[in-house]
Amino acid sequence: MGSLADSLEELARIGAAEDGGVTRTAWTPELFAAYDWVAGRMRAVGLAVEVDPAGNLVGRWEAGEGKAVAVGSHLDTVPTGGRLDGALGVLAGVHAVAHLREQGFEPARPVWVIAFMDEEGPRFGASFFGSRAFSGDDLGSYLGRCDAAGTTVAEAMRERGFDSAHTGAAARIDEVSAYIELHIEQGPVLEAQGRAIGVVTSIVGLRGYRARLRGQANHAGTTPMAMRRDAFVGAARVALELRDFALSRPDVTANVGRVIVSPGASNVVPGLVEFTIDTRSVDPETVRELERLVPDVAGRIAREEGLELELEVTSSVEPLQLDQGLQRLIEDAASTEGASTLRLPSGAGHDGLILGRHVPAAMIFVPSRGGISHSPDEYSTPEQIELGMRVLAGTIARVSRT
Ligand code: GLV
Ligand code: MN
Ligand code: MN
Repeated sequence: MGSLADSLEELARIGAAEDGGVTRTAWTPELFAAYDWVAGRMRAVGLAVEVDPAGNLVGRWEAGEGKAVAVGSHLDTVPTGGRLDGALGVLAGVHAVAHLREQGFEPARPVWVIAFMDEEGPRFGASFFGSRAFSGDDLGSYLGRCDAAGTTVAEAMRERGFDSAHTGAAARIDEVSAYIELHIEQGPVLEAQGRAIGVVTSIVGLRGYRARLRGQANHAGTTPMAMRRDAFVGAARVALELRDFALSRPDVTANVGRVIVSPGASNVVPGLVEFTIDTRSVDPETVRELERLVPDVAGRIAREEGLELELEVTSSVEPLQLDQGLQRLIEDAASTEGASTLRLPSGAGHDGLILGRHVPAAMIFVPSRGGISHSPDEYSTPEQIELGMRVLAGTIARVSRT
């Protein structure tokens, strides 16, 4: 079926932008066009394909008996994202099945390849919709969330023919025994250390927010500086203070990634600003500290600037230690391929963070050129990708042998 790099190249045409980026956000026609294309690949390697009630694309190798070994990732992207974040884990799963079949391998249990819906979360400001539904989380509070056009999750689902009332029927974690995800590192460590394969030890926990600061729109030239209630200045101070806190700690990141300033005119003092805050750490204690810090910082700055603050928690996920036994199996599979390995934590969130709270989970990383991701410049070489797929296949074989 050709090389994995060729498959990724072909998939990247769906949702492609002129600058080389790929945009396939949740529940959009582009994402479902990608599902159709990947479903064709899944069928070609003999998988039974379905899209579950939460919009997860599931391909099943119905071999052996007992609980399935699940592998996967996501096909949705951030706006103008790269070609590999998510897509690699799904297509590598399909190619790994083909590879194992070519070798005549017969798994003792089913192997499922899954693309989870809306891992990234930018459209509705909340991540992991599909993996949460698959894991049996109650998504009731997500369904009314709106995108920038005012469309709710439930409406977006209806547009694609899904009934949000049936989301709970996607819960199938009880049919799974282990979860393995291949992903690009999205950071610089493997490249800098010259290692081929990353064996992930833990995944960050995160607290995400949508914040709104309301001041007073006013004339930019006539309102004395000391008398302004400038909402954007408030948001900028929040971003800087969180940045400084994160700089002072080795294990914390803080990001203000989306800012909408209203009314948005050069000669008007900003009366309203809406912005996102993303804070992370691998340490559970530090995540709790961040949970106290963000409202404290935003509340104090709002008071000092004479602004009204609304702060909504959009993501709240604890850090996760990945399964030690699976880490050893990945190292064994890598050594069979002659690949060097490095154990490292993940600063990015992944579907494995959700499934790993219920079943043993593992993640395999391949190097990212320059550590760049969530960008059209995301790149790993065809050789790095192919090796990652073979290590994934070797790990699937080891896990599904019994
Ligand atoms: C997903 O890529 C995330 O880490 O936000
Ligand atoms: Mn991502
Ligand atoms: Mn990803």
